[in-house]
Amino acid sequence: MNVRQARPGEFPAGVQVAVAAKRATGVPFDVDEATLRVALPARQAAANRVWLAFDDGVVIGHALVAVMTDDDPTWGPVTDPAVVSARRSGRLLELGALSVHPDHHRRGVARELQRVRLLWADRHGLVPVAAAWDDSPGSTELCRQAGRPVGVHPRYPITLFVLDRRTAA
Ligand SMILES: CC(C)(COP(=O)(O)OP(=O)(O)OC[C@H]1O[C@@H](n2cnc3c(N)ncnc32)[C@H](O)[C@@H]1OP(=O)(O)O)[C@@H](O)C(=O)NCCC(=O)NCCS
Repeated sequence: MNVRQARPGEFPAGVQVAVAAKRATGVPFDVDEATLRVALPARQAAANRVWLAFDDGVVIGHALVAVMTDDDPTWGPVTDPAVVSARRSGRLLELGALSVHPDHHRRGVARELQRVRLLWADRHGLVPVAAAWDDSPGSTELCRQAGRPVGVHPRYPITLFVLDRRTAA
């Protein structure tokens, strides 16, 4: 398995992985499959970077990062000082759209996608945050290991984490 940044032409393969992961787990719960097929390409187009994980040349994992605006509806209400400071200075980086094909779960693919995104955030002086569905044990655990909860989503059962409890990137 290897992880690298994706070119735009490769983005649709990442959408396919997200759709397969949703079919297997239900996550993300706020959209149906048809909506996900439209919404994720829009997130990819707006993202600062997209990463894909490959197994023998086949795309098996997807993740992206996006700098959040000061008035973002999810992160705007968070009062944690580290988040407020990053948001106000344009350094708040959301790690999002983490998906691994269900045939490859529990093999460390998401952990590697998280590792490279945290490294990228560090290199660019950005403060990484993530919103994890409470019913996504893998995402929640990765966030717990790298950070601490700072709030909840205004509409959904999602915990908001700032990923600043790392000993090494
Ligand atoms: C969440 C998801 C990306 C995890 O992918 P993965 O490649 O299977 O995760 P990893 O193998 O890297 O696991 C990392 C750690 O998370 C935890 N974890 C992962 N899946 C878990 C599960 N089903 N139950 C409990 N813990 C889990 C474990 O601590 C694991 O480390 P370990 O295997 O060394 O114990 C995958 O389950 C998925 O695509 N789910 C559907 C989409 C989703 O939930 N996305 C996140 C939205 S917030």
